Amino acid sequence: MTDDAKAGGADGAVSIELPKPTLAGTISLEETMARRRSVRAFGPEPIALEHIGQLAWSAQGVTDAATGYRTAPTAGGTLPVEVDVLLHGVPDLEDGVYRYLPGEHALRRRLVGDRRAAVTDATLNQGFVRDAPVVLALSAVAARTAPKFGAFTDRLIDMEIGHVGQNVSLQAVALGLATVVVAGFRETELAAALQLAEGERPVYLMPIGWPGATEH
Ligand SMILES: Cc1cc2nc3c(=O)[nH]c(=O)nc-3n(C[C@H](O)[C@H](O)[C@H](O)COP(=O)(O)O)c2cc1C
Repeated sequence: MTDDAKAGGADGAVSIELPKPTLAGTISLEETMARRRSVRAFGPEPIALEHIGQLAWSAQGVTDAATGYRTAPTAGGTLPVEVDVLLHGVPDLEDGVYRYLPGEHALRRRLVGDRRAAVTDATLNQGFVRDAPVVLALSAVAARTAPKFGAFTDRLIDMEIGHVGQNVSLQAVALGLATVVVAGFRETELAAALQLAEGERPVYLMPIGWPGATEH
């Protein structure tokens, strides 16, 4: 990792510049959909930063600089989704929880250390989450969407995160990786494990890794 790619921000937080996403996959969209399957067994091999960048981009990458709109649609243009990336075993990177910064296509470290055990506990012990070298945590800030949509907000947010989850699922397949969407968790416990800010609600977890042998 170059010094340019890894730098302390003005507030001392570590920022990681991600490799530019590619728009040239090697399998067709149709084949990607046909191959998509929920996988709950992951090998121990780490995932390269290049793939992490591609996965984060598929979740919330900016695809229109003028509006800031993303790879997934957003209710009323309100952009409520936040993506945290739990990284483990990436060469030259400290394990921890990193926030994806769509505008910069970068990661900003929020927490140091392996949080997978606490996160797995919050999922009522869905043990495969603990084995995944990368876990995406998709959360939402309702306050961004509520002024426009009032009582419909949470419903719209859940739909929106469904779009994000599908983008990531298909991107994972296209990279030869495996994942599953996980919504079975205790919300308050997971928010605490991820140290989410007040008003950020976790909606989906996506453990991601190379397909492994043993299902839990
Ligand atoms: C909203 C939603 C929540 C889900 N939550 C979980 C979960 O907590 N744990 C899990 O192992 N799978 C979860 N799944 C994955 C389903 O179990 C899976 O999609 C289903 O078994 C069909 O398998 P397939 O995805 O391979 O087609 C969830 C799927 C959806 C759509």
